[in-house]
Amino acid sequence: MIPNSTQYLNADPAGIAAAADLLRQGLLVAFPTETVYGLGGDARNGEAVAAIYAAKGRPSFNPLIAHVASVEAAKRYVEWSDNAEQLAAAFWPGPLTLVLPLRAGHGVSSLVTAGLETLAVRVPAHPTARALLSAVDGPVAAPSANPSGRISPTTAAHVRAGLDGRIAAVLDDGPCSVGLESTIVGLVGTPALLRPGGVALEQIETVLGTRLAHHKPGDLLTAPGQLLSHYAPDAPVRLNATERRGDELLLGFGSVDCDRNLSARGDLIEAAANLFAYLHELDGTGRPIAVSPIPSEGVGAAINDRLRRAAAPRNS
Ligand code: TXA
Ligand code: MG
Repeated sequence: MIPNSTQYLNADPAGIAAAADLLRQGLLVAFPTETVYGLGGDARNGEAVAAIYAAKGRPSFNPLIAHVASVEAAKRYVEWSDNAEQLAAAFWPGPLTLVLPLRAGHGVSSLVTAGLETLAVRVPAHPTARALLSAVDGPVAAPSANPSGRISPTTAAHVRAGLDGRIAAVLDDGPCSVGLESTIVGLVGTPALLRPGGVALEQIETVLGTRLAHHKPGDLLTAPGQLLSHYAPDAPVRLNATERRGDELLLGFGSVDCDRNLSARGDLIEAAANLFAYLHELDGTGRPIAVSPIPSEGVGAAINDRLRRAAAPRNS
């Protein structure tokens, strides 16, 4: 069911209760997480999940993350393991997604997993997300709340710009603190990094006491969602720029003369939180965007991953 008007709900108890009701009815609600706004639908309801794909215009081979309120809730849907226990103890609730084997009787729509035998699960840290998930008391499938392939939303205004009129409601709780999607770790076989994100690779390897295998870009079998051209602004994007060329606007990092600075003091955490908002803002001018070099340690690896996708040749 596609509503023709989208409700904007405050993230107070009444708004959260209304959002939970809409989700239980099989409707779509965008909600804040600490990483980006998610476009939520009941993961057990195939029609709701189909509506997510339709609202985003998302390729159907791209599986979704199931969001749950607690570790106990996650264990209802996936086969738990020692590695999962270690990572959940260290990073949940938080910006980490674990891919684990589906458990018998899981009840999750095969549209969520795109037919895979595994499920990506995450317990977000954002208090509003947690309250909503507790109220729904079931898995909520939620990709980032943006049209497929476009810049991810870190404010309710970004969601409105991309999905207004296509979803039932947006639960507005201001900007997201992390600003980059979760790190995805595959725990089927050898632990593997499937997508860099809000938790740094180094921290995960320290907790597991082992190096992670790395997903190869474009390897659709291990990370079906990793289309190369993703997070794309309308304008062309040029990376590792040390100055503006022609009509370009410069998205800076560190002490550079620029149009927007991800972090003037060179702080990668601050840069991650600002990344999508500044890309949205510069993109709104219609001018080409140049981006300063960003160091690749810590969360910088995820920032560079998103920037490479923003700059990649577009798939139509
Ligand atoms: O921070 C986040 O993770 C945000 C917020 C809303 O939680 N969500 C998000 O979802 O980024 P999405 O749908 O944009 O990205 C999900 C990624 C995709 O690249 C998808 O291919 C991968 O997770 N994924 C989902 N299920 C998978 C599975 N079973 N195996 C491998 N990769 C999977
Ligand atoms: Mg996304």
